[in-house]
Amino acid sequence: MLFPTYQRYDIRAARGEGAWLWDEAGRCWLDFTSGLAVCNLGHCHPRVTEAVQRQLETLWHVSNLFHIPLQEEVASVLTEASGLGAVFFCNSGAEANEAAIKLARKAARERREIERPKIITFEGSFHGRTLATLTATGQEKVKKGFAPLPEGFVTVPFGDLEAVKRAADDHAAAVMMELVQGEGGVRPADPAFVAELSRFCKEREILFIVDEVQTGMGRTGSLFAFERYGVTPDVVTLAKGLGNGIPVGAMMARPDLALVFGPGSHASTFGGNPVAMAAARAVLREIRRPELLENVRVQGERLLASLRDHLKGHPSVKEVRGLGLMVGIELAEEAAPVIRRARERGLLVLPAGPRVVRLLPPLIVTEEMVDRAVEILSDSVEALGVAGR
Ligand SMILES: Cc1ncc(COP(=O)(O)O)c(C=O)c1O
Repeated sequence: MLFPTYQRYDIRAARGEGAWLWDEAGRCWLDFTSGLAVCNLGHCHPRVTEAVQRQLETLWHVSNLFHIPLQEEVASVLTEASGLGAVFFCNSGAEANEAAIKLARKAARERREIERPKIITFEGSFHGRTLATLTATGQEKVKKGFAPLPEGFVTVPFGDLEAVKRAADDHAAAVMMELVQGEGGVRPADPAFVAELSRFCKEREILFIVDEVQTGMGRTGSLFAFERYGVTPDVVTLAKGLGNGIPVGAMMARPDLALVFGPGSHASTFGGNPVAMAAARAVLREIRRPELLENVRVQGERLLASLRDHLKGHPSVKEVRGLGLMVGIELAEEAAPVIRRARERGLLVLPAGPRVVRLLPPLIVTEEMVDRAVEILSDSVEALGVAGR
């Protein structure tokens, strides 16, 4: 048997194409989950599929004791696109954040002589399930049962600059944040807060780490969400959409930070594997197309505006919010019945905490799909109201 670590939907997934998912019995859904912000280009994107197939016939894996030209190529695309200088490849979001935490600690010790480096994170954040990243995560539920946890983390309220300043004593090595909290309820950070926080970190030589595991790879309407916020982080982490379903993660950092990690400091057997790199190269080519990013902004605005319009004044709806194609509907009650009803009507959506319905459609979503999803969701929320009356 499998460990019962997931509360699974009653769907036995069999096949995917674009924004559509089929089960073993041939039933079909409009998939606004994208494998949890992974299949950003839709399921089985033909050019990514072709790139991976070609790579499978050429070279699957060599260790990182060899030069891997594809890694260098993907790294140069990422550094050119991000303005950052160095890339470390791994296999998941948690690993990318773990690498960022290790980098921040080592940089603090070596460059600022901080013996017990501290990393400041935010309430409601999610950074992964390894021991360090769950400690960094600002949600108690992910930590329960796993003590003793590593030291060196402090969590402050999301958006509270004064609280950051109070926490930023002489041990402060880094601030780590999501610009739009995903698992924590689709909460976009206030742009003024982000700008001031970035300035404060620079003044104090505290590393500004932006976790773009969910917001990156076009999800918010630019390749990275930090572009939409107009800030320049010192470290950025990626995973999910980078391989469109092939596991791959990355930590990118300012060029001068590259020398903090020397041979033996950090490693990953599978990190930057040729198959993963072939997928990432093809994905980056597609996502950087201006028409695709334009589609994210246009359809994202349509989805947000249309949901707000349809759900306006509904007693069960507290707020509709989001950025690009990362949208949340916060309810005054449990989200599960809405998610279930939408699924029965042919639309797959996600929870983000107990009361938020989260929408993560693929970036190739069309106007018709957006309108269909809004219709199903309005009906699903309406049914909640009827049931509750
Ligand atoms: C913002 C953020 N960081 C990190 C992670 C962890 O990524 P992974 O599950 O690939 O380890 C997630 C996963 O949902 C995430 O949303």
